[in-house]
Amino acid sequence: MHPVDLIIKKRDGAALSAAEIQMFVDGVSQGSWPDYQVSAMLMALFIRGMSDEETSALTLAMAASGRPLDLTGLPGVKVDKHSTGGVGDTTTLVLAPLVAACGVQVVKMSGRGLGFTGGTIDKLESIPGFQAAIDEERALQLARANGLVIMAQTDNLTPADKKLYALRDVTGTVDSIPLIAASIMSKKIAAGADAIVLDVKCGSGAFMKDLASARQLAQTMVRIGKHTGRVVTAVISSMDQPLGCQIGNTLEVAEAIQVLKGRQGGDLLDICLILGAEMLVAGGAAADTGTARIRLGQALADGSGLDKLRALIEGQQGDSRVVDDPLRLPQPSCRRTWAAPRSGYLTAMDTAGLGHVFVALGGGRLSKSDSIDVTAGLVMQARLGQNIVAGEPLVCLQGQNQAKVDQAHDALEALFTIETEAKPVRPLILDVIR
Ligand code: URA
Ligand code: CA
Repeated sequence: MHPVDLIIKKRDGAALSAAEIQMFVDGVSQGSWPDYQVSAMLMALFIRGMSDEETSALTLAMAASGRPLDLTGLPGVKVDKHSTGGVGDTTTLVLAPLVAACGVQVVKMSGRGLGFTGGTIDKLESIPGFQAAIDEERALQLARANGLVIMAQTDNLTPADKKLYALRDVTGTVDSIPLIAASIMSKKIAAGADAIVLDVKCGSGAFMKDLASARQLAQTMVRIGKHTGRVVTAVISSMDQPLGCQIGNTLEVAEAIQVLKGRQGGDLLDICLILGAEMLVAGGAAADTGTARIRLGQALADGSGLDKLRALIEGQQGDSRVVDDPLRLPQPSCRRTWAAPRSGYLTAMDTAGLGHVFVALGGGRLSKSDSIDVTAGLVMQARLGQNIVAGEPLVCLQGQNQAKVDQAHDALEALFTIETEAKPVRPLILDVIR
């Protein structure tokens, strides 16, 4: 069949077979389909939607399009975790060491930040010396030694996804639930996961702004898991405000260390315990989530989670002394505080807007090749629902560039809603789908 015939078939509303989807993905990977035909197919898929069978076939074809990570040499269930992306989402840096300390191996591929969401690899690379670009052989060695590796996604993991994502970005076809679901799941499957715990973010700082679409994305990914033989659990959590108190690369490393030292509770720790419990059950280290929560609590209390973070940093050539002395992380040369312009209740935050401020400070990237200021970021002093007094510091900005810090300062007022009446704040966990 010619590409145009497949495009017409989908355009007219018929479902494509697994073999036809494989032809499309092969055409993308091998470059035999020109961009205009790939783009036309993406638009047909976007407008017509995809069945579970089509979405699963697309996932598997994309997962096999490059060089998958082969973890079959490691014993036990390989459990991965994925966040759909948020602001101040420091989860992996706390969660992965805690889970590893409880005996579940974590071999995780993460990305760099792009757009308003941060990336775990950028955060880890803000630790002096840390090496995220490691090969499969070294990853397996580290997994055997420490039970924990966090590595940069290799360029050839899922080339079809990379190509499709770039075209979706410029053809108005990013916001398609089946295309997003297949994109995420293909990378997790290619990275060797047997079981996947998804953190689907919902709210002003997330891709999915409302609960209905977050739930649809979560359900689609859980169903892909069923079709492809992977155990998938999805937790839907609120991104109405930044998850942790700090947004930034060195800032989030420092905050993760505080949490692992047992010095900071709140939403960041809570979500790590909830996702971690799902990971321990999926990995066979606990019979149920209640038992798993107790094990994770022990790993926090006895410092074994913190020790795992130290071992992770050391194993990947980073300066692990930052764990005991976070001032060894690169420090900003400029700081400025933004104070509450009036008194009242903090009823809403434009969380994506805070992510854009982080990017404008120099902490994130507008294009993949941008270099970043690892010290740039925001320290938040208030949570939603809090009663605020005019003149109180609400955000501390930091970075290496005073002009950017000053500009960011002036952008903040538009991002906070302070009202005389309190409004209810949604709970952190909005749903769990198994
Ligand atoms: N994240 C991905 O990896 N892919 C998408 O399509 C959207 C978000
Ligand atoms: Ca991410």
